[in-house]
Amino acid sequence: MAGPAPSSTAAAPGPAEGEPVLAVHDLGRNFGGVHAVRDCSFAVAPGSITSLIGPNGAGKTTAFNLIGGLLRPSAGRVTFEGREITAQRPHRITRAGIARTFQITRVLGDLTVLENVVLCSPARGLRRLLGGSMLERERARGFELLEFFGLAKLAENPASELSYGQRKLVELAGALMSEPRLMMLDEPAGGVNPRLIDDIAERIRELNRGGITFLIVEHNMDVVMGLSDSVIVMAHGEVLRQGSPEDVQSDAAVLDAYLGRA
Ligand SMILES: Nc1ncnc2c1ncn2[C@@H]1O[C@H](COP(=O)(O)OP(=O)(O)OP(=O)(O)O)[C@@H](O)[C@H]1O
Ligand SMILES: [Mg+2]
Repeated sequence: MAGPAPSSTAAAPGPAEGEPVLAVHDLGRNFGGVHAVRDCSFAVAPGSITSLIGPNGAGKTTAFNLIGGLLRPSAGRVTFEGREITAQRPHRITRAGIARTFQITRVLGDLTVLENVVLCSPARGLRRLLGGSMLERERARGFELLEFFGLAKLAENPASELSYGQRKLVELAGALMSEPRLMMLDEPAGGVNPRLIDDIAERIRELNRGGITFLIVEHNMDVVMGLSDSVIVMAHGEVLRQGSPEDVQSDAAVLDAYLGRA
């Protein structure tokens, strides 16, 4: 079946030759005395699947929230395709070409599966304000995305009927409504049964082949090592290493961080 990777990808502005699609420079954020993210710098190459890993509390979700505009950094900068996006509001980050999913899914059980996907369309806020309903174009796109994730049969069912893993797929479908060039996924395999994890990984690969760059926070090392071109390791709010999956796996400092010795 033809994948739903955005047809706009090929014509999208994209980063200049050799330039990272996303670059984080000395990013920092404190919560009281806790340095959740500190002097954090890393780059995501265009077209890559890059993973951001690290022990619980390392600062991965905070880094996502700083990049995605849900939190304001206390220090540092973020650029996307060479343009400054530091501390922009989430809807502007989405409009710039970045979409994300959340560690804890945000699917609304009272709405249908399709409505949950379409709700993520970038123009929804304005239309809701104007009292408009679902546009046929959005409905068709939402349905196409549900087909891609194998959920078309459930499109009109209440989302409350979905398993946790299926909710993750609905979130992925919703994130694709904005035709992103970069997708940031916070634990796409977390709490998902093993068979569905393979499905999710395969869909990510397919979307990546269609031109979407991925930055993925994930604790499942089989998924990370199987998908990633590059792995960034965080611990205590800082970047410990960025390298190939093989390099990172055999790095003593990385092993120490996971064993709590760093
Ligand atoms: N809103 C907040 N207020 C106070 N402290 C916070 C807040 N958000 C995160 N923290 C703290 O910042 C640190 C980093 O948390 P973060 O959620 O970014 O970690 P993480 O790497 O995503 O962990 P996990 O793998 O468990 O999801 C932790 O010490 C956490 O308790
Ligand atoms: Mg987290």
